[in-house]
Amino acid sequence: MSTFNANQFALEFDTESPKKIIENALETFGNIAISFSGAEDVILIAIASKLIKDKSQLQVFSLDTGRLHPETYQFIETVRKHYGIQIDLISPEHQALEAFVKEKGLFSFFEDGHQGCCGVRKVAPLRRKLSTLDAWITGQRKDQSPDTRNNVPVAETDNAFGSESKPLIKFNPLANWSSQQVWEYIRMFDVPYNPLHERGFTSIGCEPCTRPVLPNQHEREGRWWWEEATHKECGLHSGNLKD
Ligand code: ADX
Ligand code: SF4
Repeated sequence: MSTFNANQFALEFDTESPKKIIENALETFGNIAISFSGAEDVILIAIASKLIKDKSQLQVFSLDTGRLHPETYQFIETVRKHYGIQIDLISPEHQALEAFVKEKGLFSFFEDGHQGCCGVRKVAPLRRKLSTLDAWITGQRKDQSPDTRNNVPVAETDNAFGSESKPLIKFNPLANWSSQQVWEYIRMFDVPYNPLHERGFTSIGCEPCTRPVLPNQHEREGRWWWEEATHKECGLHSGNLKD
């Protein structure tokens, strides 16, 4: 699909609903997958599963960092059964992970930042997965981070993981939705959600790097709270930092 113009699509679909964006993305790309973190981005699966008749055609993957909350693992299983889909759990490369943990231990991110650990547990596995795809769909939203996600378009050429010889398109169908809209959808359509959301967790990532937030505290403050707000991208969406 090298002829696909992501910028043009982003302009045309900027005010369209997530459903319309996902529908067009799935129609345009056969080899496309949803990247599911085990949080409120479950609505991508809820929407896509209504659009696809043959559930075996729906590709969903999660990066299993090995450090997710038990509730998140259970939730991934709940989603798998609820929608009758397969979820591809992507593990870190074992030699790189073993070497990293041997050298740095299990909590190095509190001392020298999360980029090293995220690099081994998330970014390299994502790179491996994305090399097999033509496009991916994420749950990124502008309102998730005023510092890094304010300019997220509904579609973009992913230059962080794709290349000129192997272009990769990234769809962000929820870019213009607020957290409130996402949660209205979840309640209206009885979409299953991660029980951690009932315990003050708004944004959910790995267990050691995620904490609940107080009322009116921004959701991003519950992630990597010991670091600067502008550094809070783990590398999955590093393209955001160039903006
Ligand atoms: S992160 O970069 O800070 O970790 P965030 O939790 O906001 O990302 O999630 C934004 C989107 O990134 C998710 O909707 C999902 O598409 C993707 N994502 C984040 N974490 C994972 C994961 N563990 N597995 C798969 N996709 C993920
Ligand atoms: Fe490691 Fe924390 Fe990044 Fe998870 S979020 S990969 S535990 S640094």
